Amino acid sequence: MTAQPTAGPAIRVQGLVKSFNKLEVLRGVDFDVAPGSIFALLGSNGAGKTTVVRILSTLLRADSGTAGVNGFDVATQAANVRESISLTGQFAAVDDILSGRENLVLIARLRHLKDPGTIADDLLDRFSLTDAAPRKVSTYSGGMRRRLDIAMSLIGNPPVIFLDEPTAGLDPQARLEVWRTVKELTERGTTVLLTTQDLDEAEQLAERIAILHGGRIIVNGTLSELKQLLPPAEVEYVEKQPTLEDVFLAVVGDDGEDGNAGDDRSLGTNE
Ligand SMILES: Nc1ncnc2c1ncn2[C@@H]1O[C@H](COP(=O)(O)OP(=O)(O)OP(=O)(O)O)[C@@H](O)[C@H]1O
Ligand SMILES: [Mg+2]
Repeated sequence: MTAQPTAGPAIRVQGLVKSFNKLEVLRGVDFDVAPGSIFALLGSNGAGKTTVVRILSTLLRADSGTAGVNGFDVATQAANVRESISLTGQFAAVDDILSGRENLVLIARLRHLKDPGTIADDLLDRFSLTDAAPRKVSTYSGGMRRRLDIAMSLIGNPPVIFLDEPTAGLDPQARLEVWRTVKELTERGTTVLLTTQDLDEAEQLAERIAILHGGRIIVNGTLSELKQLLPPAEVEYVEKQPTLEDVFLAVVGDDGEDGNAGDDRSLGTNE
């Protein structure tokens, strides 16, 4: 990787606006992601999570606003941004007819890295795929495929990783395996932007959680900050803390459709 990280947030999004014909999907999205942290972008179906990720990964142009990744502007420095990131999840890139190891070697070769075999073997070990390495990916379980997909995205050590619904469709066991993998990423200083509709996932993984609704970030804070938005409910003598689900439903509204429910409750500025 030649793209050097710069000081400041790993991801900075300011006033992002995007429409598809008459459909206004993003109406001024703002957030920062601190380097080496996991940031979860939560939202209902169609809220615009993938649209944000596609803009940040230079696959789509915003109508207005700015976005920077690893200190590079997505519109004017797209090549530097691409060198700084990898993208996985809703766009799984694994090739079924190759083995797990062959998939990894292929990507390392495409990235012109030295010693693709060693890179592949290290990643297989890290993602507990060594035993399955020679088998065709078509024989892998959903969790193994997703782990391989994340392993592929790490080739070349990109400083910023986008995971678009990384555990959608996985069973609880596979989901736990992916969570473990994602937690390990930040131990190595990688910044992770995760999109999810799974509130447990955001609670488990993210240091900061933002809720995208009605084209804007309506809430942005740590889990405990989000929980403070709702007063604890008293049940006889026992205090019940609100869950992230309670907070989500309270700020988004149960309808999840019109996009106007919930006022702006951003919790201060991002660091
Ligand atoms: N290329 C496109 N052309 C037209 N409409 C689009 C396009 N891409 C996305 N949309 C629309 O924009 C809205 C936001 O889509 P997006 O995929 O960003 O949502 P999402 O939050 O990722 O949803 P999901 O949780 O279902 O993945 C949706 O209404 C979608 O139909
Ligand atoms: Mg999506």
